Amino acid sequence: MEIKHLGVIGAGQMGNGIAQVAAVAGIRVTMVDVKPEFVAKGFETIKKSLGKLVEKGKLPAADSAAAIERIGTGTDLSNAGSWDFAVEAIVENKKVKEDLFRDLDAKCRPGVILASNTSSISITEIAAATKRPGDVIGMHFMNPVPLMALVEVIRGHATSDATASATVELAKKLGKTPLEANDYPGFVANRVLLPMINEAIFALWEGVASKESIDGIMKLGMNHPMGPLTLADFIGLDTCLAIMDVLHRGLGDDKYRPCPLLKKMVAAGYLGRKSGRGFYSYEGGAQK
Ligand code: CAA
Ligand code: NAD
Repeated sequence: MEIKHLGVIGAGQMGNGIAQVAAVAGIRVTMVDVKPEFVAKGFETIKKSLGKLVEKGKLPAADSAAAIERIGTGTDLSNAGSWDFAVEAIVENKKVKEDLFRDLDAKCRPGVILASNTSSISITEIAAATKRPGDVIGMHFMNPVPLMALVEVIRGHATSDATASATVELAKKLGKTPLEANDYPGFVANRVLLPMINEAIFALWEGVASKESIDGIMKLGMNHPMGPLTLADFIGLDTCLAIMDVLHRGLGDDKYRPCPLLKKMVAAGYLGRKSGRGFYSYEGGAQK
């Protein structure tokens, strides 16, 4: 089935990136969030990102303008009946996602695929909240979506072959490389990445080194593009904690326990780049 109209729920850093790459690929998009100001912020981020790509000569200005025209916005699911595919990118919370999937199931046409961009939550459990578990799948984009090649595609227990192949096709149409993983906590990307980030936070908490040294050692020593603490701020510390909680509970091993410093920072509202303060401070999205 050709996907002409994509619904993206969540206009945060992932949702607006997904809306952007879909619109650039020629797909009409409706991007939804709970408040008009969140939608407006997501739309501004898309314009800035497209502007950068035009400035760098990576995207013709006319294609950027056409992509912007393809993006509609909303604060509810009122036009979900006209979507051909939905991608959810809301907060990393199982209950909130299950409620949304129940709602999407009621409002989207039968057969429309409902994909989750979850970082770690069971696709099988999200799918079980709907009456169409065969049409539910994980479509895990990486941050920043416009620049990162990978989409991790995760089949739930009931996901059909047709749903998996349509999702792989969509990822390719968006210019991404889809790679499949099975439905276990954190899948592959975050099963491997987040324990490293959590360990870097333990190293800081235990006084092994300063944040600058920890980041510098991993950048210069391992050739990582960002140090783990900078990357944690970039992902969002709330999201990092939610992922560690899923790994800890789901795999039942204390090696996945979230560092107390991570918990304390999230409780204090230090969520990283998106809140202006995490391990580092940010102004206008840039590290001070
Ligand atoms: N849109 C468009 N262009 C952008 C952009 C955006 N959102 N963000 C950055 N750019 C551009 C910049 O303008 C710059 O362009 P030029 O090279 O032409 O000057 C280029 O991208 C590089 O940007 P910077 O110089 O600012 O920074 P950088 O060299 O460090 O690259 C990066 C940025 C690509 C993000 C790089 O730092 C990187 O790869 N970091 C690691 C990202 C990563 O690990 N992502 C995965 C996170 S985990 C995840 O996503 C899964 C999960 O569930 C948590
Ligand atoms: P974010 O905090 O930037 O944005 C989440 C957005 O969802 C917010 O704007 C919030 O208002 C909105 N929202 C919450 N409940 C909603 C609802 N019921 N309906 C509509 N909108 C709602 O978070 P993010 O970083 O974009 O993460 C979104 C999802 O993508 C999470 O599941 C996260 O685990 C996953 N993810 C994040 C990253 C990352 O690096 N940040 C990478 C890959 C996947």
